[in-house]
Amino acid sequence: MRFFLGLILGLILFPLALMAYLYYGHVPVAVGDAPLLMERTITHRGLHARIDREAPRKSPMEPSPTNLLIGAQIYRDSCSGCHGYYGQTSPIGKELFPRAPQLWAPHGNGIVGVSDDPVGETYWKVRNGIRLSGMPAFNNLLNPTQMWQVSVLLANADKPLPANVIDTVKPGAAPNP
Ligand code: HEC
Repeated sequence: MRFFLGLILGLILFPLALMAYLYYGHVPVAVGDAPLLMERTITHRGLHARIDREAPRKSPMEPSPTNLLIGAQIYRDSCSGCHGYYGQTSPIGKELFPRAPQLWAPHGNGIVGVSDDPVGETYWKVRNGIRLSGMPAFNNLLNPTQMWQVSVLLANADKPLPANVIDTVKPGAAPNP
């Protein structure tokens, strides 16, 4: 009897507490708020499981000088505002939640940005975006060739790149002719 009383009370109280939490302004919705309990685990696990299922295993595109240069122009025009330039972080990228990783920043073991991620994973993220983050889906903004070119560039960010490629992703680079 007690058990059922507890169960029924729980069934009523739990949703009420949840409603109060939602409706009285306690949910962490501002960029500066601490993450929700298990927020990172849930979002990261879910994202990676989906990417493992869908991401192409291989790039149809070679890191040729032309592809790298076009990738750099796309990066400068569409990505640098959040992900930073070569040698300069983006002030806006830090103010997003989650933060936009700085894709030209070296970080441990010679990795630069996402150079340690499989190129298909980066392509998936560029194509589909990452929900509830500032990362847009570029599927309707770039064509598949362009999305591969920028992904191939980022996969090779830790390698020696041609000077014109680096110049294109430096701050103040001239816009496309
Ligand atoms: C409006 C800001 C914004 C723009 C523009 C933007 N991104 Fe992002 N991007 C983000 C944010 C924020 C994240 C972090 C998402 C997360 O951690 O869940 C992200 C994540 C990523 C990641 C995953 C990084 C990692 O560490 O796994 C890649 C790769 C990426 N973006 C590539 C690009 C490329 C390429 C472009 C341009 C074609 C681009 N982004 C444009 C905000 C942006």
